[in-house]
This record gives sequence, structure tokens and C-alpha cells, in this order.
Amino acid sequence: MDPIELIKEDHRRVEALFEEYGAYADDAYIQKAEVVETIIAELEAHTEMEETIAYPVFREAADSEDEKKVEEAYAEHDVAKNLMDELKSLDPQDPQFDAKVQVLKESIEHHVEEEETDLLPSAEENVSGEEMARIGEEMQAFKDARDDEALDAASEAEL
Ligand SMILES: [Fe+2]
Ligand SMILES: [Fe+2]
Repeated sequence: MDPIELIKEDHRRVEALFEEYGAYADDAYIQKAEVVETIIAELEAHTEMEETIAYPVFREAADSEDEKKVEEAYAEHDVAKNLMDELKSLDPQDPQFDAKVQVLKESIEHHVEEEETDLLPSAEENVSGEEMARIGEEMQAFKDARDDEALDAASEAEL
């Protein structure tokens, strides 16, 4: 599996979830809270996958200029994590809730844009095809393990 495609698939899914959030009425608190919960779960899994599997390989293969892009990506993940932590402790009826979701959305859009136009293209140049295939496999395994966990949790909830 191409790791670049896997990463982009996740990006499109999160974008769709933000769109779903935006389509709800202001007072659809339950639905909005559910979508935000899903967004956070998706983003946490995605950033963990990038930080543990992809970014270290990108950094290893980068020259000093490209290394800065990887460091910036880590820093942008940290910004998103802080926003997600704030959202987790915020009541969906809080007047700040929509604003925080909007700021998270904008910061993710910015990060995704940089990743897709800059970081990933330079990684594709720097990292060998063989190494790319290996991280693609690792990322697929990461995703499969996560899907299994979700299935287990769902079947436990049914019992
Ligand atoms: Fe990403
Ligand atoms: Fe990222």
C-alpha cells in the first residue's frame, strides 16, 4: 500500500467530518459532540501513525531543509493536540465550542495543505521505493489493528 495514499485517504475522511459538523444546526449539540468525538479519534490515530511510522523515516532521509518541514509538522501536530484536549473538556453547549472546532479545522487544513504540497512530495523524493513500501505496510497494519479494536469495542457494547 502506498503510504502517501493512506495518509491522503485519512485527510479526506477528516475533511468530510468537519463538513458534516458544519452542516448541523447550531443547537444540534448531541450530533455535534458525536462528530467532534469521531474527528478527535481519527486525528489522534492519524497523528500517532505519522509520528511513529512515517515522520521518523522522512526525517532520517531528509537533508537539513527538508528536515525543517518534518519538525514543523510535529509542531503543528502539537498545536492540534492542545486544541483537541481543550475541546474534550468543553461542553458542546459552551459558546466557545463552535469557535474551538473552527480553529481546529483551520489549523488542520493548514497542516494538511503543507503536508500534501510540501512534506509528502519531498519525502517521496528522499525515501527509497523499498522503504516507502515498508512504511506503507506498517501503516496498513496500524490501521487494521485499530479497526479490530473498534470492532471488539462495538461487540462488547452489544453484550
Ligand atoms: Fe497527515
Ligand atoms: Fe500530519
